[in-house]
Amino acid sequence: MTQYFTEDASVETVNARMGKNINPRLALVMASLVKHLHAFAKEVHLTQAEWDYGIDFLTKTGEICSGERQEFILLSDTLGFSMLVDAINNRRPSGATENTVFGPFHVDGAPELPMGSTICLDGKGEPCLFQGRVVDLDGKPIRGARVDVWSDNADGYYDVQQPDLQPKWNNRGVFVTGEDGAYSFVGIKPVSYPIPDDGPVGQMLAHLGRHPYRPAHMHYLVTAPGFEKLVTHTFVGGDTYLTSDAVFGVKSSLIAPFNQVKDGNTAWVSPFDFVLTPV
Ligand code: BEZ
Ligand code: FE
Repeated sequence: MTQYFTEDASVETVNARMGKNINPRLALVMASLVKHLHAFAKEVHLTQAEWDYGIDFLTKTGEICSGERQEFILLSDTLGFSMLVDAINNRRPSGATENTVFGPFHVDGAPELPMGSTICLDGKGEPCLFQGRVVDLDGKPIRGARVDVWSDNADGYYDVQQPDLQPKWNNRGVFVTGEDGAYSFVGIKPVSYPIPDDGPVGQMLAHLGRHPYRPAHMHYLVTAPGFEKLVTHTFVGGDTYLTSDAVFGVKSSLIAPFNQVKDGNTAWVSPFDFVLTPV
């Protein structure tokens, strides 16, 4: 094989330049990346103008990133790549609750609240009681599970997207289960919303004839000693965007009941149990 670059031997030439004593996992991952990247350019016969456009797109994607905005994660999400990596790394036994995309709007340090507390602080939206149990694969309650929840407000924005308009920690909270594994809190019936689409990823979606909407959902991060971390949502059945989620996060097992109730201040009840997998 020639040490000089040729179109035919492009992959072998690039990969042969790797040193002998490098991290074996790095060598494997990079060799495969180069192989598939070159195959992509060859398959579509990538033009120079198209690659210049691609470089410009990636540059703009980087430039819009900040402490509050992660456009590369949005890119990964909208290409289905986040869900693919998640699926590869979270193959669960049947009966265990499935993972879905984490998203960019989780904030560490949300207040730990007594069971049954209200997390909606802006008074907007239709109150909804979320309740259920955190259990193991045998249905036994898990004590000491941390149920960290977050959702958008009734206008479709997370508190961190509107720091001047929404109270801090609006629609967020952490609930720790007791002996019975039960959790409950009052939030709002979530509403569908567009992911941030004023940057390069939004333009990409528009060029591809795709909308930026996510179906209404409540986010959960459930952790307990001795069990795998569960990153998931529950979705509102019947949402217009269930089958066209901009980030491919919907799984049928995660569509939860939302039952309308007539009494008290609560308009809806959404029961859902989380089944954790042992580590
Ligand atoms: C979210 O559900 O919060 C989300 C997920 C992926 C991209 C943007 C938002
Ligand atoms: Fe969300």
